[in-house]
Amino acid sequence: MSIRNLAAQTPPVGTATSANPPTLFTPLKIREASFQNRIWVAPMCTYSAEDGHLTDFHLVHLSAYAFRGASLTIVEATSVTLNGRISPDDSGLWTDSQIAPLKRVADFVHSQGQKLGVQLSHAGRKASTCAPWLGEAWRPKLATAEVGGWPDNVWGASAIRWSDAFAEPKEMSLAEIREVIDGFRDSAVRAVKAGVDVIEIHGAHGYLLSSFLSPISNHRTDKYGGSFENRIRILIEVIEAIRSVIPTGMPLLVRVSATEWMEKNAPESWDVESTIKLAKLLPALGVDLLDVSSGGNNQHQALEMHPGVQTSIAGRIRSALFSTGITNLLIGAVGMITEAEVAKELLEAGQPKEKDATVEIEDEQGEIAKADIVLVARQFLREPEWVLRVANRLGVDVAWPKQYRRAVFRKGSIL
Ligand SMILES: Cc1cc2nc3c(=O)[nH]c(=O)nc-3n(C[C@H](O)[C@H](O)[C@H](O)COP(=O)(O)O)c2cc1C
Repeated sequence: MSIRNLAAQTPPVGTATSANPPTLFTPLKIREASFQNRIWVAPMCTYSAEDGHLTDFHLVHLSAYAFRGASLTIVEATSVTLNGRISPDDSGLWTDSQIAPLKRVADFVHSQGQKLGVQLSHAGRKASTCAPWLGEAWRPKLATAEVGGWPDNVWGASAIRWSDAFAEPKEMSLAEIREVIDGFRDSAVRAVKAGVDVIEIHGAHGYLLSSFLSPISNHRTDKYGGSFENRIRILIEVIEAIRSVIPTGMPLLVRVSATEWMEKNAPESWDVESTIKLAKLLPALGVDLLDVSSGGNNQHQALEMHPGVQTSIAGRIRSALFSTGITNLLIGAVGMITEAEVAKELLEAGQPKEKDATVEIEDEQGEIAKADIVLVARQFLREPEWVLRVANRLGVDVAWPKQYRRAVFRKGSIL
């Protein structure tokens, strides 16, 4: 028997073993992919790749979450072209040699019975910056050619700079738009070759696709600018290109900034109503889940930064879809989810219960549940074992890594 077999986990870590778990710990099947719980690791850039290739750092970093029970771990924004990187140290899938290091991560994650996703991205006008720890807080440092940057080859929907901290973007030609769409398609093919289970398209945070959506950053006068239909065109074409090359059974997710938080500062902007309009089109295109983020497209954004704001927007979108009879687009809630009870309540219908109330399912797919999945980023950085802690805090028995069973959290312990 190989070491891998000895180390395998059956059932996968994070599977509920007690009766009647809350929705958070019930399985979910999307196309042919099964998830044993509803807790996913959101994509997080680590600026630690070598020429776009994942390294040992990524193997350890990503596997830590999968090993400890996250049913899906999504690899950071991974660039589909060389100039689509945020920084020179970003992950990429623009060339075949980048398949093997991603496959290495996927193989380990699969050996634990878990799933790996990858977020495909193009940074657009926010490309060619240094890793954030090299800049100042909230002000990135431009990556010049001397440090491996490409400030003279930064592409945008329009030639509108994000701020004076960023490069001057060049308005993309139709041929360059085609090149990027092909890049998404070819990167998706490579992701499939690497054994990745899920693909997410990065349409958020002011990166390329997100900047096309907004009338503030997209001033084009061709078929990719102007009307709502024209501004969403590149995203739709990316979705179609990816769906045409990935297996039918593979889930496809789209992350958007549901609002760019410019309602108060601009007469027209990308807002929640725009997202709802877009969301209604997605199931027919083969998108399975909308991952609801916000902001990042404008330096003058009036961000509302408190827990519950973004996840409430997810709920608003889900309920708008339900009210028009669209129930086949799953909704992912993300943002400041740190508490077990909060994660649980997001997925359940009904009024919020008292903290520490008995855990029971009232309605698995109720119309007023805010989301179907929770995605968590920073809390996993703080507590890689967050899935196990949440289960303990909710009083749910879950499978632990068998090598760690002697350390299971004590029932009722909040530590
Ligand atoms: C270190 C770090 C890197 C991030 N990188 C990405 C990324 O690559 N792609 C993306 O869509 N969001 C990225 N985000 C945003 C997260 O996915 C998430 O949406 C955000 O942090 C809010 O969730 P949280 O409150 O659970 O951290 C990043 C966040 C952090 C903290």
